[in-house]
Amino acid sequence: MTTPAPTVEPHDAVDILRAKRDGRALDDGQIDWVIDAYTRGVVAEEQMAALAMAIFLRGMERREIARWTAAMIASGERMDFSALSKPTTDKHSTGGVGDKITLPLAPLVASFGVAVPQLSGRGLGHTGGTLDKLEAIPGWRADLTTEQMMAQLESAGAVICAAGAGLAPADKKLYALRDVTGTVESIPLIASSIMSKKIAEGTAALTLDVKTGAGAFMTDEAEARELARTMVELGTDAGVRTVALLTDMSAPLGRTAGNALEVRESLEILDGGGPDDVRELTCALATEMLEAAGVRDADVEAALADGRAMDSWRAMITAQGGDVDAPLPRARHVEELRAEEDGIVSGLDAMGVGVAAWRLGAGRSRPGESVQAAAGVEILRHHGEEVRSGDVLARLHTDTPERVERAVQAIEGAWTLSAPGTPVPPRRILRDRIA
Ligand code: URA
Repeated sequence: MTTPAPTVEPHDAVDILRAKRDGRALDDGQIDWVIDAYTRGVVAEEQMAALAMAIFLRGMERREIARWTAAMIASGERMDFSALSKPTTDKHSTGGVGDKITLPLAPLVASFGVAVPQLSGRGLGHTGGTLDKLEAIPGWRADLTTEQMMAQLESAGAVICAAGAGLAPADKKLYALRDVTGTVESIPLIASSIMSKKIAEGTAALTLDVKTGAGAFMTDEAEARELARTMVELGTDAGVRTVALLTDMSAPLGRTAGNALEVRESLEILDGGGPDDVRELTCALATEMLEAAGVRDADVEAALADGRAMDSWRAMITAQGGDVDAPLPRARHVEELRAEEDGIVSGLDAMGVGVAAWRLGAGRSRPGESVQAAAGVEILRHHGEEVRSGDVLARLHTDTPERVERAVQAIEGAWTLSAPGTPVPPRRILRDRIA
């Protein structure tokens, strides 16, 4: 019996990571190989970790980012929605505290006859995942087959479900590695990670919500703008109509952070009410998504006010087994955090609120951990609002009261109060549009 000859690899991982370490651009062949070989397990985790750090420190040229993205798409399957009877339009947010926008947005856009396939993830760290939020609804399930997804897009118009393991598997591996090697906050790596999944998903149009401020990946506005521009270029070059809105994440979106709490606030929006910032961003993104799908001058406010968006929500949740009439879970323990002085809220630190919600049990520290559906933070005094000593600033919800102390440590300094009567400029949620 003859043993098969060992495969001769055309490149050496060490040469590639040395090249990037020394600030040289990688060629197409090197990029294609390193992504493919990493997916096959030929490039070791420690080699990819070193390469990710070299990219983090040295950056990538536009051509390299485009090729890296294409190689990650090629590592898995591509979805195809061209058989649907409706145009498709999708949205992606770079993530933030209290960012529940997908929940009202997907049914709102679907109520105009457009298909919205939202392949979402679970949260890690201080920002919550869309699937964790929806799992607070009794009976709702995240896992759908491609056939179920296509059928639901035809019937209900919107689907929010888990991305299958087959989409961009190279990114799945690399993202988990970046998470534990301090290499998440890199423009080439974030842009290629997000866009490889979105392009592989096969949507015709994509609206990006790129966050900037204390609770975002990119705290600096210039860097967030650069990330947005990079993703818009990648999408456009791949034939996806892509637009980005640059939006504020210095303070939490709305008044809730935590799974069931955010579902409740989303229902307020779908009922025509809810916090102004959540409604403004939902409507701005819906308008962009609809225009990208060819629906011009849609009156999205009217669809929230007259119940069309809510009907669409009920259809979407019911199709995935959710009981839209069942009460949402409530935490066993609620603690109030009170103000110690008078003033006007001139700042509310998104990171402090996000970390508190996470510590209360709304988020996870390790992949696969379970989350508490009812845990989180309810904000009673937000940006621009008057506070008197003794007023309740926030309610902390949890099933496990022993978590409260550490949550309080994270959140107690989150409010910046200006002297009573000081004018506080209104918060500008929408910062820029990049097309
Ligand atoms: N979300 C992603 O999918 N990838 C990143 O790198 C960052 C956020």
